[in-house]
Amino acid sequence: KNIMVIDTDCGVDDALAIMMAVSHDDWKVLCITCCYGNVNLNQVCQNVMRTLVVCGKHEVPVYKGCEKALVSNELLGSDYHSKDGFGGVASEFPTDCLQLASPEHASNVLVRLAREHRKHLVVVALGPLTNIAVAQRLDPEFTKNLKELVIMGGNINGFGNSYLAAEFNFASDPEAANILLKEAECPVTVIPLEVCHKYALDWNWLDDWRKTDTPRGYLVQKMTEHSINRARNIPGCNGLHLCDLFAMCVVVNPRVIVKKDEKCVYVELNGQLTRGMMVVERRLTHLPYVTNNVFIVMEFNKTELLKMFKKMIL
Ligand code: BDR
Ligand code: CA
Repeated sequence: KNIMVIDTDCGVDDALAIMMAVSHDDWKVLCITCCYGNVNLNQVCQNVMRTLVVCGKHEVPVYKGCEKALVSNELLGSDYHSKDGFGGVASEFPTDCLQLASPEHASNVLVRLAREHRKHLVVVALGPLTNIAVAQRLDPEFTKNLKELVIMGGNINGFGNSYLAAEFNFASDPEAANILLKEAECPVTVIPLEVCHKYALDWNWLDDWRKTDTPRGYLVQKMTEHSINRARNIPGCNGLHLCDLFAMCVVVNPRVIVKKDEKCVYVELNGQLTRGMMVVERRLTHLPYVTNNVFIVMEFNKTELLKMFKKMIL
């Protein structure tokens, strides 16, 4: 089996991504590491556990990581996933007294597992990149030991969601994103914000999806209601955005990728309006100091994605 660790700030789309990962036969989720982000760290851990309970995967270990960014003091969080990060329905889904696997810190766990499974482990980053950047600082060989790092985050055209010009996960900890994009010694795949938004799920499809009468279907129905109501009231919004779920599909089924570009990208650290923005090198002239550092997923096969979404809740 292929193996992954999911690093998450468990909001609604993270929970769906976890559901996708644990329901895939070809993949084993070794553990889930938690990071502050959509909500505070404790709430994130609880949301991960609720998701695992609904999926019947009590055995997947959950670890706690960083509570704050490396440098930024401001916690962005937003109402996007509602106050509890779980579409406002967290209390309806108990954690069945699931506990953290141990007090071992998420970043230590990442370092340990990367060493134990040299070149076989895929790390899927669905939140601010703090835990993963700390792992890289704890062990400079950390990313060298990975098979791949897949990141939901960053933007390609300066379109922001939490800040004017930056995507939430990068904006939450620009220094962490910068460390990884600069230093990672494994293949890095980025699923940027605008590409996820382009494939928003339309209202009719969602209505149908949310009628699926299974325990997982019920969670999807409840958990997405808040975001759907919110998005429907935003003029011009083309549907529901579930970025982390898309990123997970890229991991478990690369056939969903129609186009990916190898590029050189940077993270803006100082801009007054652009801090956290991902800047893509697009100059046509060959510049000797420009080295590609990421694969950016640019186009999806939507039919294949929708098929996967339906299957994961059966
Ligand atoms: C990212 O921000 C979070 O709110 C989502 O869970 C996703 O990881 C999208 O910008
Ligand atoms: Ca997330």
